[in-house]
Amino acid sequence: MSGTPVLVLGIAGSLRRASYNRGLVRAAAAVAPPGTLVEPFDLAPIPLYDEDLRQRGEPEPVRRLKERIAAADAVLFATPEYNYSIAGVLKNAIDWASRPPATTPLLGKPVAVMGASSGGFGTTRAQLALRQVFVYVGSLCLPKPELMVSKAAEKFDADGNLTDPSTREGVRALLTALVDWSWRLKGDAPPPR
Ligand code: FNR
Repeated sequence: MSGTPVLVLGIAGSLRRASYNRGLVRAAAAVAPPGTLVEPFDLAPIPLYDEDLRQRGEPEPVRRLKERIAAADAVLFATPEYNYSIAGVLKNAIDWASRPPATTPLLGKPVAVMGASSGGFGTTRAQLALRQVFVYVGSLCLPKPELMVSKAAEKFDADGNLTDPSTREGVRALLTALVDWSWRLKGDAPPPR
C-alpha cells in the first residue's frame, strides 16, 4: 500500500442541498492528509430497497455504490439523526450495499462515523444505531475518536459549509485515524506523522 494514495469514500445520509452532513464530508475532503483522497458519494439516485428489483438485477446507482465502496480503502459516514436514529436515506443505501451478505463490499471494510445535528447531542444516538448496523454487516468500525457536531447552525454557513475551526480539527483527527486504521487492518504500518 506504501506510495499508493488512500481512497476514502465519503457518504452523507442526507439529500438536503445545504446539509450539515454533506458539509462534513466536504470538510473531510478539504483537510485530507497528504496521500489521501476523499471522494463524496451522492445517495440521491439510490432507489428504495426492493428485493424484487434486486432479483431482477441491481439498479445502476446501487451497482455504482457497491463498486465505489469496493474500490475504497475506507468509508467515512456522516449521519444525520432522525427521531433518535439514522435517516432512512442512509439505512436504505446500506441495506442495498449489504446484499448479498457474503459478498457485500462492506464486509471487512474499515469505516468511521461522524454526524451533525441541529440539536444539542450531535447525533449521539444515530451514531450508536449506525455502529450497530455495522455489527451485522461486518464492517470494521473505528472505535475512536468520536465526532458529534451539535448545534450545527452555529458551525456551518447557510450553504452547509463548515465554518467552525475546532470542528474542522475534529474532522481532520477522525479522518487521519480512519486512514491509519485502514493501514493497520491491511497489516501495514501507518506513515509517520
Ligand atoms: C430531525 N432532527 C433531529 N435532530 C436531532 O438532534 N435528533 C433527532 O432525533 C432529530 N430528529 C429529526 C427527525 C426528522 C424527520 C428531521 C427532518 C429532523 C433535526 C436534524 O438534526 C436536522 O434536520 C439536520 O439539519 C439534519 O441533517 P442535515 O440534513 O443537515 O445533514
